[in-house]
Amino acid sequence: MEFPNNFLWGAASAAYQVEGAYNEDGKGLSIWDEFSQIKGKTKNNTNGKIAVDFYHHYQEDIKLMSEMGLKAYRFSVSWSRILPDGEGKVNQAGLDFYEKVIDELIKNNIEPVVTLYHWDLPEKLQEKYGGWENRKLIDLFVDYCRILFEKFGTKVKYWVTFNEQNVFTSLGYRWASHPPNVSDTKRMFQANHIVNLANAQAISAFHKLVPNGKIGPSFGYGEVYPLTSSPADVLAAVNANQFNNDWWLDVYCYGRYPERILRLLKKMKLDFEITSEDSKVLKTAKPDFLGINYYHGGTVKAPNIDKVRSQKDFNKTDPYLMAADNQDTSPESYLFESVENPYLEKTSFGWEIDPIGFRIALRQVYEKYQLPILITENGLGAFDKLENGKIDDQYRIDYLNDHLVQVGKAISDGVPVLGFCAWSFTDLLSWLNGYDKRYGFVYVDRDDYSSKDLTRIKKKSFYWYQKIIESNGRKLEVK
Ligand code: BG6
Repeated sequence: MEFPNNFLWGAASAAYQVEGAYNEDGKGLSIWDEFSQIKGKTKNNTNGKIAVDFYHHYQEDIKLMSEMGLKAYRFSVSWSRILPDGEGKVNQAGLDFYEKVIDELIKNNIEPVVTLYHWDLPEKLQEKYGGWENRKLIDLFVDYCRILFEKFGTKVKYWVTFNEQNVFTSLGYRWASHPPNVSDTKRMFQANHIVNLANAQAISAFHKLVPNGKIGPSFGYGEVYPLTSSPADVLAAVNANQFNNDWWLDVYCYGRYPERILRLLKKMKLDFEITSEDSKVLKTAKPDFLGINYYHGGTVKAPNIDKVRSQKDFNKTDPYLMAADNQDTSPESYLFESVENPYLEKTSFGWEIDPIGFRIALRQVYEKYQLPILITENGLGAFDKLENGKIDDQYRIDYLNDHLVQVGKAISDGVPVLGFCAWSFTDLLSWLNGYDKRYGFVYVDRDDYSSKDLTRIKKKSFYWYQKIIESNGRKLEVK
């Protein structure tokens, strides 16, 4: 197990989750600023108005990064800080803020990795155009990206287009648990297609403007296992991997959707418009790397089609059409049924812990798409306890150690991994779980009800990661 000498030992964050200053220096509101106002949508109605106030603490935080020896910091730009209305006039103060952050990182030998979209669409674009359901957003996204490419293209080498498109389209348009608070499967697929086009157009624009840079999307990947070796369960896992993973990755890398899923959506009347121009756009844009966010995968068994059929009494002869009329019946019902994995333990927030799944994921993604991989997120959300001014987060050290060992093994297997950005550097706001679900190496003293004084305190894991970076991974413990 050997990490390359230029391996990017990093950490990651997102604007809404750390910055705060939600309406300062000309910033416009984002859809998350609005959505978090709806009672009951986030835990204890938490929001990112102050977050952990990276906006005012960035120098202090970057100093800590430098002390740790961090080689890369992934952060996102808030579109409405650059363009308060999402389009039109540029807010110079917004650009200045990110320039200061980038310069400070570079001064400290930390490679900035810039995410262009981590879910905080300008609210004005939602109101005026209906957000990602409108093709107008493709050009507007590219215009916004161009501003950043032109301004920072010489300073920033690594760029991420969209963070976890799979997550924000599903939660936003299907499950109404993210903005724009919609629950309509058909609309989700339509919006998702438009985001795919925006992703492709942004990549093409980047390649013209920043020929020496590298760009790719960050995808939330989880390998799906069959519950048993029964061929029906294995088929269900093949289906689930296509539906959960290939559905996005094939588009990013090959410019086309998996046929099996397209056919199913058509039968269910959940299909969406793909013009011949769209296909051309998707085919011409190629990412330079794939960003992979890894937390866990899934396990499935064969679906029980009879159960699906009996859910509604009309149109029993054609379950696909029935599904089109019934939002409770989903494409998954025909493909797989999710179950618990009896071999895996869970975090205190109920997420399966599966380090070997990480190695599998990296191997699968690389074998299939032949692109270098930048791990743009991996980490443990936990309730940390501040006791006598200290945080003993040995559980986080164990989690990260075991995952990094598998990254090392995947590298030895031949996967080109550019770097590893732990989620996260400081504690930050969890979109739906408030401030108690902590991920950072650095504790931030605040809770759901009060931003207190936002004091930064290094956790035990801070010193551990510092050692790992310094030894270029040689201090990892192979158990
Ligand atoms: C990823 C996101 O989905 O997971 C992050 O890109 C997010 O923004 C992270 O915070 C952890 O999720 P959660 O729900 O535990 O905050």
